[in-house]
Amino acid sequence: MQATARARANIALVKYWGKADARLKIPAVGSISITLDRLWSDTEVRFDAALAADELELDGRSRPEQLARVSACLDLLRERAGVGTRARVVSRNNFPTGAGLASSASGFAALVGAAAAALGLELSPRELSIYARRGSGSAARSVFGGYVEMHAGREADGSDSYAEPLLAAEDWPLEVVIAIAARGEKDVGSGEGMARSEQSSPYYPAWVAAQPEDLARARAAIAARDFESLAEVAEHSCLKMHAAALAARPPLIYWKGVTLDCIEAVRTLRAAGVPVFFTIDAGPQLKAVCLPEAGERVAAALAEVPGVLEVMTTGLGPGLETRRIGG
Ligand code: PMV
Repeated sequence: MQATARARANIALVKYWGKADARLKIPAVGSISITLDRLWSDTEVRFDAALAADELELDGRSRPEQLARVSACLDLLRERAGVGTRARVVSRNNFPTGAGLASSASGFAALVGAAAAALGLELSPRELSIYARRGSGSAARSVFGGYVEMHAGREADGSDSYAEPLLAAEDWPLEVVIAIAARGEKDVGSGEGMARSEQSSPYYPAWVAAQPEDLARARAAIAARDFESLAEVAEHSCLKMHAAALAARPPLIYWKGVTLDCIEAVRTLRAAGVPVFFTIDAGPQLKAVCLPEAGERVAAALAEVPGVLEVMTTGLGPGLETRRIGG
């Protein structure tokens, strides 16, 4: 009863921010993302009757504070399989954990993929996406590669709140340059940040109300491979999400000064005709999305911004990959 899985990080171009149901992690809004090729979580899950409790090792050390969330996700799959056996989970990210680089997305998608395979459950990608959502909303999208849409759904039980692929990575290759503006884990995680925005941001209802229009524009831009129009809606969605978060009480300020300098650098490039736009999640790192021919120029410009610690370039990648070990 052992399996491994690799899932990649994804970044949303039309953001997910806010929940309709916190327990079931049903998002208040749909979202559209791209899956990144070079940022992944490799997770091994071994169910073992000799274990008295679940165990978690993340990036080489035991992480008791994350265990409850992992166990809750495993419980759903154990219930489905009709077993009570505890598991040892060993997971490794090939990129910094918890700093706004979507480690929970790749982490929970890989966890669900490995655990389902280890239990011998034959789940459809849609079902895997629903289980991954229960770990972390954005993880539902990392089950798929390329361009992905997450549906908020209408059902109270979350059964129609899943992700599905929009377009394969090969069908419209883009590059993503990530500017690392700060290392270390962020102060306010996305779960707490969303709850605070829902409860106290005067802009939150407007954010939710406008989402269907942004989703429709992004879907159309992707179908038409229209970079300019995707750039416009993605930057708008990002800034609007941060505007809702900034207006929460207490405020949520995820950016550092260097994040704003990176925004400036991307806007300067685009004004000079370079096909690039930015997006930023619940952390200080800026992700610049560009056509492949602009990748080197964008990476060089961001590396020159004072305070940028590192730049990483990646293409778009595939969805969840799972391998069962032994019988
Ligand atoms: O999956 P969570 O709960 O970590 O939320 C992710 C939220 C954002 O990264 C800020 C936006 C998104 O759509 O990924």
